[in-house]
Amino acid sequence: MAGRIPASFIDDLLHRVDIVDLINSRVPLKKGGKDYQACCPFHDEKTPSFTVSREKQFYHCFGCGAHGSAIGFLMEYDRMEFFEAIEELAAREGLQVPREVGPDQGPDYRPLYATLAKAAKYYQHQLRTHPDAQRAIDYIKQRGLSGAIAADFSIGFAPPGFHNLMDQAKGDAEELKRLWIAGMASESEEGRRYDRFRDRIMFPIRNFRGETIGFGGRLIGDGKPKYLNSPETPVFHKGRELYGLYEARKSVRPLERLLVVEGYMDVVALAQFGIRNVVATLGTATTADHLQRLFRTVHEVVFCFDGDQAGRDAGWKALQTSLPLMRDGHEVRFLFLPQGEDPDSLIRREGAEVFQQRINRGAPLSRFLFDHLESLSQTDAAEGRVKLAELAKPLLNQLPDGLFRKMMYRKLSERVGELISGASAGASGKRTAFRLHSSLSTMPPVRRAIALLVNNPAFAQADNLAKGWEYLDLPGIPLLRELLEILRSEPNITTGALLERWRDRSEEKHLKKLINSGSELPGEGQEVEFRDTLAYLSSQAGQLEWEALVTKAAGQGLDEQEKRRLSELAKEKAELSTAITNMEKF
Ligand code: UTP
Ligand code: MN
Repeated sequence: MAGRIPASFIDDLLHRVDIVDLINSRVPLKKGGKDYQACCPFHDEKTPSFTVSREKQFYHCFGCGAHGSAIGFLMEYDRMEFFEAIEELAAREGLQVPREVGPDQGPDYRPLYATLAKAAKYYQHQLRTHPDAQRAIDYIKQRGLSGAIAADFSIGFAPPGFHNLMDQAKGDAEELKRLWIAGMASESEEGRRYDRFRDRIMFPIRNFRGETIGFGGRLIGDGKPKYLNSPETPVFHKGRELYGLYEARKSVRPLERLLVVEGYMDVVALAQFGIRNVVATLGTATTADHLQRLFRTVHEVVFCFDGDQAGRDAGWKALQTSLPLMRDGHEVRFLFLPQGEDPDSLIRREGAEVFQQRINRGAPLSRFLFDHLESLSQTDAAEGRVKLAELAKPLLNQLPDGLFRKMMYRKLSERVGELISGASAGASGKRTAFRLHSSLSTMPPVRRAIALLVNNPAFAQADNLAKGWEYLDLPGIPLLRELLEILRSEPNITTGALLERWRDRSEEKHLKKLINSGSELPGEGQEVEFRDTLAYLSSQAGQLEWEALVTKAAGQGLDEQEKRRLSELAKEKAELSTAITNMEKF
């Protein structure tokens, strides 16, 4: 991981992304007043207490206390890391995440990406120009692919020979090293390196930003191994990456459903027929990482497997991987193709429309699960139904809390003919220990000022705010000062973006607790309240200074400057007395 992400970039990003759209794509929201609402995705509830504010760019659940910005939402809901969440939002907006050069800088993979990008360009160029490329072009055409689709997927050609790609480095030792690290070279027993991919049709594999991270290379015609893939490298992990995800996200907007197939050619062939929401695992079973990545992009995943026993087994494995990720709103379906067909061969035979219907009719996870288990237990006898319950329970127990889990237990009970209750998956302690936000009226004034400000960043722009409070030696004063400084230099920052500035700082949890406090006061009331609070604090600061000066005057006496200050304070005291009276009534 490279260096820190500049705070200004995070502000800007949170300014462009709309948290309402972001959350709505995962948890359907309904408008209620000026905010948006839904049943909380983080705890089980029947009436909506989860609210999303477009104005504040912040979400908050009054039931369980979950709250945060768009970044926080992705971290909680999609289980992303902080950097990942930022990368994800940036990718949505087509932005590159800048990195500050800092001491906490991890490895910088940009040179590897550059080397891989050059390799992809080189292979594409060879497909157009190399004397041997005609065989590759003929093969691609024979597989029914147009030049346009080949270009969309940046398909290329690795010419025959052992040093074509390596020769491109022109002896640059650093570049040769990068080709090795990026998996583009193989090594003989004598330690001599040569091009890994030779005389193959090249499919670049891209990450979600579109950077090339590896390749799959297919033989032209028959032979073994049919496909050669990049090995694991610092930038390429088969168990995490999905072929075609970048291309799908680019060409389908909004993307709501993704079809998961097995082969490179399946992805490309379906794209040729206009079905572009397709990805392939890279010769491995679907992992939880894959699924998490998919659910970050869409709420519905359709797995597509061969109809043979191997396909059924792979499907069952994918179901097991899916269970812990079946949060309400996530959908998984299973499509088993006729024996001997793969998506590529089938769509050619029956056309896009019929194939699309197959996708639409894929078996929901619930059906596949119960059908499969019932096929293993003869449910016409009581013994069989007991067996069904025994098989189902450990699976259903993996479902996260929510409506879906409850419904699955209900279905199981119906099929078994006895009530089987699913004990809760166990709410996490930090949520159950949630306390109600303390209301403004009972807060000490510094905290009250902070609460009013984070909920209404615009207040920082007001003229004539009282001065003097800055010098008070009270907890929270440095925080209040910092908040005002940031808000004045970034007038358009939202509450959500503002809070990101405090991520992982000790004040973060205090700040977050203050969000949405004060909703009992009307908007205007809040501004008056904020001014009065600062005035009150300033008067306290003035009072302390006043007392110090008066004591000094009675003792050693004051110099000219101090005398002037004392009379200034006397004037301020008079002006502020109204505010003080107001505050004390409050
Ligand atoms: P398939 O044999 O189904 O490949 O393997 P395919 O995509 O349908 O290819 P065509 O139609 O024969 O050209 C599915 C996936 O398994 C991996 C590849 O990722 C392939 O796309 N695989 C297969 C390998 O990695 N190596 C192999 O030798 C074969
Ligand atoms: Mn195939």
